[in-house]
Amino acid sequence: MKVAKTPDEVRKIINGFRKTGEIIGFVPTMGDLHQGHLSLVKMALEKCDRVAVSIFINPKQFGPKEDYARYPRNEEKDQSILEELGCDLLFIPSVKDIYSTSGRTRVSVKDIPEHLCGLFRPGHFDGVALVVAKLFNIIAPDMAFFGQKDAQQAVVIQRMSADLNFPVRIFLGHTIREENGLALSSRNRYLDSSAKKRAASLYKSLSNAFRLIKMGERNPKEITARMKSIIESAGLEVEYSEIVNGKTMKAVGEVSGIVLMAVAARLGGVRLIDNIAARVENDRVEEVLLEFPEWSGYE
Ligand code: PAF
Repeated sequence: MKVAKTPDEVRKIINGFRKTGEIIGFVPTMGDLHQGHLSLVKMALEKCDRVAVSIFINPKQFGPKEDYARYPRNEEKDQSILEELGCDLLFIPSVKDIYSTSGRTRVSVKDIPEHLCGLFRPGHFDGVALVVAKLFNIIAPDMAFFGQKDAQQAVVIQRMSADLNFPVRIFLGHTIREENGLALSSRNRYLDSSAKKRAASLYKSLSNAFRLIKMGERNPKEITARMKSIIESAGLEVEYSEIVNGKTMKAVGEVSGIVLMAVAARLGGVRLIDNIAARVENDRVEEVLLEFPEWSGYE
């Protein structure tokens, strides 16, 4: 596996891959890799000739009171895991490498960030869109892979890539969970085992919502109230419990079409999110990924 620190080094390596017409897959991460990341890398390895992974904890997507300074860093371990998996290129830039210029350009997707996490993390999705646009320009991947766990982020990135004509196809991977249902996240490191048990209430609330929809409930208010009460009973403070349109992230008046059941809650100082997406057509209800190929930069 080649390791590059600067955009110039990455470009040279990628140009080498391109000369022989190889398809390049890209998995952007903030490191401290867990099985959720690794499932994306494995998906990329299956679909692409070469796979690049980036590890960059992007300061621009953290608010002033958020956990940028203490975000888990584990580069050596990450590097050996990626090497073992058969990844071709690891890009580990410094903040200076990514934000070396005057920084006057913004990348801001309209509307989608006005819901769910965007309301509680002002500027977060601008920070994500900016860094992902930069990484796409540096790596120029044919395919990029993101986790459904950060569904709103994935939709922002799909929209941004299509609007800015990045010739990249975005793929989503399923959320990987612990046995009790807790979605894997680097932030789970902040939780001890009893907190992890309580944190599983997020998935419990979503599974319950999915069951209610399967049983025919179509009123989002009924369902989101149940979601909230399940999480609160476990002693967490709920930020939101919503059912939104899978493309716009706007709360729905009736559960129908592609919807996302999404929750965010705080446990101690730790913010946790989770979601399930479903296609609801009359009596047919099935779990889906929020993947919108028609938003790909190819169209
Ligand atoms: O999901 C993440 O790890 C980050 O938000 C991403 C996509 C790598 C951008 O910094």
